[in-house]
Amino acid sequence: MLQVLDAMVAEAGADRVGIKLSPEMNYNSITDAAPQETYAYLVDQLRGKGLAYLHVALFGAKFDYHAMLRPRFGGTYLIGSGLTQDSAEKLVADGKADAVVFGSAFLANPDLPERFRVGAALNAPDHKTYFSPPTAQGYIDYPTLATA
Ligand SMILES: Cc1cc2nc3c(=O)[nH]c(=O)nc-3n(C[C@H](O)[C@H](O)[C@H](O)COP(=O)(O)O)c2cc1C
Repeated sequence: MLQVLDAMVAEAGADRVGIKLSPEMNYNSITDAAPQETYAYLVDQLRGKGLAYLHVALFGAKFDYHAMLRPRFGGTYLIGSGLTQDSAEKLVADGKADAVVFGSAFLANPDLPERFRVGAALNAPDHKTYFSPPTAQGYIDYPTLATA
């Protein structure tokens, strides 16, 4: 990972390279016997590279990785996963994150920022079309406020 990052930074410049980490995310049976040590070490190595951001997504981890990793990184810190407009705004207002990340809500709402701005209802994501063959369905066919 560190070698790949260095190659990307050499090619594009550190300010155009960010990294997302999902500690304890066990999708595809990924496990780590000592995740806290692993991620502390990794983020210590990231510090000083001048990366554009570190994005940490927690999917059910009990340990507070944000408290451990944000100070170690020392740069722009993004939090995402399971956020709502309210919880996201609170994270930023409380100074817990520099920016927030939306995945499924953005997939289902191509105009998500505008919907947040005007307080509009959100389209629900259709989980059946996740990871589906590369067709438009479920990726670029959700309606915007303008087309609904
Ligand atoms: C269809 C789909 C595919 C995704 N694929 C990946 C992936 O390959 N790697 C990854 O790190 N996260 C992946 N994610 C997770 C997102 O990058 C993001 O972390 C997550 O959706 C944020 O949580 P939220 O959907 O609750 O906002 C995927 C999410 C969706 C909805």
